[in-house]
Formats: sequence, structure tokens, C-alpha cells
Amino acid sequence: MAWLRFSIILLLNMCVLIAHSSPIEADAPLTMQVARSAADATYAVTVNLTSSQHSCDVRFLSVAIGSRRITLDWNGSEKLLNLASALSPADLRLGGTSANFLHFDPTERPGTRDRFYTSSHKTPFTVTARQWDLFVSFLRKAGLDLLFNVNNLMWTKDGSWDPSNADKLLNYSSAKGVQIPYFQLGNEPSSYQRNFYINRSPQKLVQDYRTLKNLLAKYPLYAGSKLNGPDVANVATSYKARVYLQEFVAAGANDIVDELSIHHYYMDSRKARMEDFISPTWMNYLKHDLAHAQTISRSSPRPKPVTLTETASCSNGGASGLSDRYIAGFLWLDKLGLAAQSGVTRVFRQTFLGGYYALISNRHDPHPDFYLSVLYKQLIEGPVFNLNISPPNPQLRVYAHCARTLLYLPGAIVVYYLNLEKSQTVLSLSQFQANDLHLYQLTPGDTSGLTSKYVKLNGQTLMMSGTKLPTLLPRLQTGDVTLEALSFGFIVVPHANVSLCVEYFQRDP
Ligand SMILES: *[C@@H]1O[C@H](CO)[C@@H](O)[C@H](O)[C@H]1NC(C)=O
Ligand SMILES: *[C@@H]1O[C@H](CO)[C@@H](O)[C@H](O)[C@H]1NC(C)=O
Ligand SMILES: *[C@@H]1O[C@H](CO)[C@@H](O)[C@H](O)[C@H]1NC(C)=O
Ligand SMILES: *[C@@H]1O[C@H](CO)[C@@H](O)[C@H](O)[C@H]1NC(C)=O
Repeated sequence: MAWLRFSIILLLNMCVLIAHSSPIEADAPLTMQVARSAADATYAVTVNLTSSQHSCDVRFLSVAIGSRRITLDWNGSEKLLNLASALSPADLRLGGTSANFLHFDPTERPGTRDRFYTSSHKTPFTVTARQWDLFVSFLRKAGLDLLFNVNNLMWTKDGSWDPSNADKLLNYSSAKGVQIPYFQLGNEPSSYQRNFYINRSPQKLVQDYRTLKNLLAKYPLYAGSKLNGPDVANVATSYKARVYLQEFVAAGANDIVDELSIHHYYMDSRKARMEDFISPTWMNYLKHDLAHAQTISRSSPRPKPVTLTETASCSNGGASGLSDRYIAGFLWLDKLGLAAQSGVTRVFRQTFLGGYYALISNRHDPHPDFYLSVLYKQLIEGPVFNLNISPPNPQLRVYAHCARTLLYLPGAIVVYYLNLEKSQTVLSLSQFQANDLHLYQLTPGDTSGLTSKYVKLNGQTLMMSGTKLPTLLPRLQTGDVTLEALSFGFIVVPHANVSLCVEYFQRDP
């Protein structure tokens, strides 16, 4: 039925004049224009391999969970550990609205309420020593590094931030040798008024950050930890969030934080429609958020990189039947591509666990985005390249990076794509015509199509076998690559021998 919604777009596609197949010289006149269906179109992709403005480290794709999830059982499940390990190396942000309600009490004995999870983000909860121990030990076993979101709503009588509970946590953790490489303070402070009927000015927040930094300096284990803030959401569309970020930077935040952090959601889950998830217009909106944040950062004499510490398709828990289905992969892969191209240092997927936008279900079954994330993690690291698509087509979005050396030799390159056309299209990697290619094509896992709960890799539905993940194997081929209608995937050129990639992996670690 959903296909009916696309019929108008499909009709339009049929009418578009598309140049004849095979690569076209940029300046050559289009002498052979023929009316064709998009199904026959071939697109020549030329990657600019001579320069790269940005580079992603291997932790670029990271994950987030709500602070309250720390009260779940992090010791019980081998399956959960295998799932988390598959995303390593990565950072895990423990944060969000409930961060401002977390109270650490090492003297509290674990009780029956220990593992009680309520859906209300806005009630205080206590974290016991045992819960903390199990959680940090899970992260260590999984190979995830912690970004800890500190409660910003504990204040002294004079209204300054009260660091004593954070001190308790650090004191306890330091004695146990718990690594916490990143901290941040509060969550979406420009919305405190709306959410909690209180106000924290950006100037006050900068003071709070200074207090936190001084606190960390007391502990040799945390003195070198990195800080990021202020975690405001949707700076392109929220004027309040944008002004908050501006004032945070103007108040000297960049002297304290290592990165400026923002959140991004394309839309509210209650308004999300299927067509939004495959819309280039929605995808492009992210560029405005990143550009605003970077412009604001550069307004400081000490510009800092921008990081996306909380981001997903839709706010308010994600859209049921969309954010947890195959179709979510389009917005997710495009976000990773755009963020990498603009030099964002991390993209923390909201969430690893919890909500419809989670990578895995509450029963720890992977959603399609989980497998997409694992592939991205296994394949991509290092310099990002610009590329040219000829003829241009907004329905075809393509990105290029160096390949990670987990599976490939230094010098290998990955081209990844979203085909938003409702028909097959053909990609021609003109520079690598003679090369062997490794294709990882992801398509819906069953007959539900775009809203499938499953995903196929090269035609095989990906399924766990007990607690074990399937191996993600490529299909080998040479020549032009046929992209399925409404699909996405990765094309690796194992022997591309791109010198910028070789050099990246030769550098000192
Ligand atoms: C590749 O990028 C560099 C730097 O932006 C530019 O100078 C050069 O002209 C580009 N090469 C091609 C073939 O577009
Ligand atoms: C964690 O799980 C292991 C294996 O099931 C068990 O031996 C251990 O006692 C548990 N630790 C805690 C603190 O519950
Ligand atoms: C941690 O707490 C203990 C007990 O209160 C105290 O003696 C110690 O100095 C604290 N450590 C640091 C680094 O503040
Ligand atoms: C890769 O390229 C370099 C020059 O950039 C060349 O010296 C080397 O032999 C090439 N390696 C392979 C395996 O083709």
C-alpha cells in the first residue's frame, strides 16, 4: 500500500530527461539526450583522491543510552555483550533528560528497586555502587569508553552548581580505577524552562563547567578527561537553542570544553511519515545544523570541533514502525556521511538500547540499523573524500572514505550510497573500472519492504544464531554496480592503493 504514496514521484521520474549511460566528460555537450526511465540510468562517480579536508577516527560512530538505563541488569546477558562489542571501538554516552535526575549513593544497599525502570525521565533515581560497578564493567568488557553526563540540577543555596555528588562518584570510581575519558554537564539546557520550569543561563553554565573542570583536576585519573557541551538540540530550527550556543561560546566556553556538542533530530516522532525517511530534503536539513554550530564555534578565538552527542531520526523515542525498521537506514547512513564530510568528530546514535530509535530491541534483538552500524564500524576509518556524480541526481547520495584496516589493506577505499530512486540504478566507479570490488548491499529483510523489521546483506537475511552475530560477508564483483531500488550499501575497492589512506594508517597511533 505504501508504494501508492510514491506513485506521483515515480511518474515524475519517468519524465525526467536523463543523459545516456556511461561516464560523461564534465564539459562535453549532452548531444544524446534521450527520455528514459531512471531504471536505466548509469551514474559515474569520481572520487577526488588528491585531497581530504576531514578525517574520522575509528570511534566516529558511537552510541548513547538514557542515564536511567544504568539501573538495568548489565551483568546478565552474553547476547547483549556480543551486540555491544560488535560496535567497539566506540564511545557510549550515558546521558539525556534523566542525567539531571541521577544521584549516586555508594552507601545505598542494592534493594528491590535496583533494577526498576520507569518510563518517566523526570523523577530522581539513585545509582548504587553495585549498579555502577556492573555498568562500567560491562563497558570495559564490550570495549566502549564512557561519556558521562553529569547532573546539572543540583545547586547550592546561592544558585551555583553543587559538585558534591559528582565528587562522590569520582572519588569512588577513581579508587577503583574506572576510566571516564569524557564528561559533560546537563542536557539540553535551553529547554530547562520548558521541561522543568527553571532557568540556567549560558553564562552560569560556563561557570558550572569551570567548577567541573576544577573538580576533575583533583583526580589524576580524570584530570586529562575531555569535556564537551552544551548539548543543545536542533540549532538550525530552534532559535533558543542557537542563541544559547552563541552565548555559551561568547561566555568563554571554548576555553573550557574540548568540543561543542549538539543534538539533532530530523522531526518529532508523532509527525513522522514514511516518505520523510527517504526524503533528500529532510536529509539536507542536517547540513544547516552542522553549519550553524561550526559558524558559532568559529566566532570564538579558540574554535572547537563540533560533536553530535545525541542524534536519531525522530525525537520523543523514535517513530514506531519506522525508526526501528529497514527504512531508518537511509537517514542514519546519510547522517553519518554528511557529518563525516563536515568534520564532526563523533555521531552518538540515540540509542543503543531503549526507544523505537534504538539499535536493538528491549529483548536485545538487532534492528536493521544495528547491522548497518556494525558494517560502518567495520569498514570505515580515516580521511573523507569529496566526489562528483555525473549526471547529478538528488535521489542518489554517495560518500567516500578510506577503508578501515580491520578487513582491508591500507589504501583501500569505501564508497557508500543511498539509492532513493524507486528503481534500480547503476553506479560506475570510473577510477576503479578494472578493480575487484567488494559489495555490501543492504535491502529489506522480508516482504514488508521498507518497513521490514529485518535486513538482507547481499540477499541473505541477517539473523543472530543464539547469542552470536552473523558474519557480514561481501559479494565480489568487477565493473559497474547495480543498486537495488530504495536501498543502501557499501562498495569497497580493496586494492585502490589510495595514498592518503596508506599514509593515514602509517601515522603514529
Ligand atoms: C580535488 O580537490 C582539490 C582541493 O579541494 C581541488 O584543488 C582539486 O581541483 C580537486 N580535483 C578535482 C579533479 O576536482
Ligand atoms: C555477574 O555475573 C556473573 C556470571 O553470571 C556472576 O558470577 C557474578 O556474580 C555476577 N556479578 C554480580 C556483581 O552480580
Ligand atoms: C576520597 O574520599 C576519601 C574519603 O572521604 C578522602 O579521604 C579522599 O581524600 C578523597 N580523595 C580525593 C582525591 O579527593
Ligand atoms: C601503491 O602506490 C605506490 C605509489 O603511490 C606504489 O609505490 C606502490 O607500489 C603501490 N602498491 C601497490 C600494491 O600497487
